[in-house]
Amino acid sequence: MRSYKIAVLPGDGIGPEVMEAALKVLDTVGEMESVKFEYEYAQVGGCAIDETGKPLSEETLKMCQQSDAVLLGAVGGPKWESLPQDQKPEQALLQLRGGLGLYSNLRPAVVFPALAGASSLREEVVSGVDVMVVRELTGGIYFGTPKGADANKGWNTMVYERHEVERIARVAFDLARKRSSRVTSVDKANVLDVSQFWRDIVIEIHQEYPDVELDHMYVDNAAMQLVRTPKQFDVIVTSNMFGDILSDIAAMVTGSLGMLPSASLGEKHALYEPVHGSAPDIAGQNKANPLAMIMSVAMMLSYTLDMGNAGAAIQSAVSEVLEAGYRTGEIYQDGDKLVSSTEMSDLVIKQLIQISARVA
Ligand code: IPM
Ligand code: MN
Repeated sequence: MRSYKIAVLPGDGIGPEVMEAALKVLDTVGEMESVKFEYEYAQVGGCAIDETGKPLSEETLKMCQQSDAVLLGAVGGPKWESLPQDQKPEQALLQLRGGLGLYSNLRPAVVFPALAGASSLREEVVSGVDVMVVRELTGGIYFGTPKGADANKGWNTMVYERHEVERIARVAFDLARKRSSRVTSVDKANVLDVSQFWRDIVIEIHQEYPDVELDHMYVDNAAMQLVRTPKQFDVIVTSNMFGDILSDIAAMVTGSLGMLPSASLGEKHALYEPVHGSAPDIAGQNKANPLAMIMSVAMMLSYTLDMGNAGAAIQSAVSEVLEAGYRTGEIYQDGDKLVSSTEMSDLVIKQLIQISARVA
């Protein structure tokens, strides 16, 4: 029997609940496909700080390096907010990204037909939106040096090396070829030298992809355009911090941050996590939307484990459950059927089993 080692990092807040829900779905896939998923659990973020004093231990990083893929729930919470910068739970994410070389972060923002009315934007603006934000994840201002702060000054450095821009540009162009063949590179080249450098290299790499359309946008304009006419975008490629901001905007276009999965990929490793945070206000109440975590599992199946059919089946199951009117609290509207996190994942599993029976 084929078997995969999955490092499972539930984290803080709603992380453990959405992880449990998603692993039930993955177990179902395992049974259907006769594949064994071996889970190795470890703590990261705030719970790891409480246990070991550090947001990410060396053993945990090593365990992730030896896995076929990593699943992460969410980290952080008010309890750890006042810790010094380099000791906060969020450091676990940055150390995982750096330590596993996860330079490309794929954040698909897709509007499910059933949810087009749930966005704060008009339905005709959002229906049919299908944007892929490709965020550079191990460089830029998040990792640049020098950085620091004293009583009178705080500073970070936004720096990109040629190879970092080249490889993320290729990721974006390759992805675009499998979609609508359009890439928008987002920068701030009217002000920042590093952004002009970024733009020049993206143009250079574009020579290898004459079949893909490329345009450029300043980040302030891109933020506005995403809200104004999100359908104009196919693939957006951008730097670490701009991608952080734009992916939250793209997420809200789809109606809820609770719906967005992500993949963080490098040469050797891969990590999958929902875009949403740890939502401490609803943690432990079985209310959280598990769909972003469930769809992160679907991305893992498609991108890393060569089980694209199972990934697509999960995606369809989610879509059909939404079509049937089931919603967790944050996307609930009058007339919907309100369900808990566990009910939602059970519904997805039921649908998944039906889909596989249909195919068989
Ligand atoms: C994200 C998060 C992280 C980021 C934080 C928690 C470090 O906002 O994954 O988008 O800024 O990358
Ligand atoms: Mn973010």
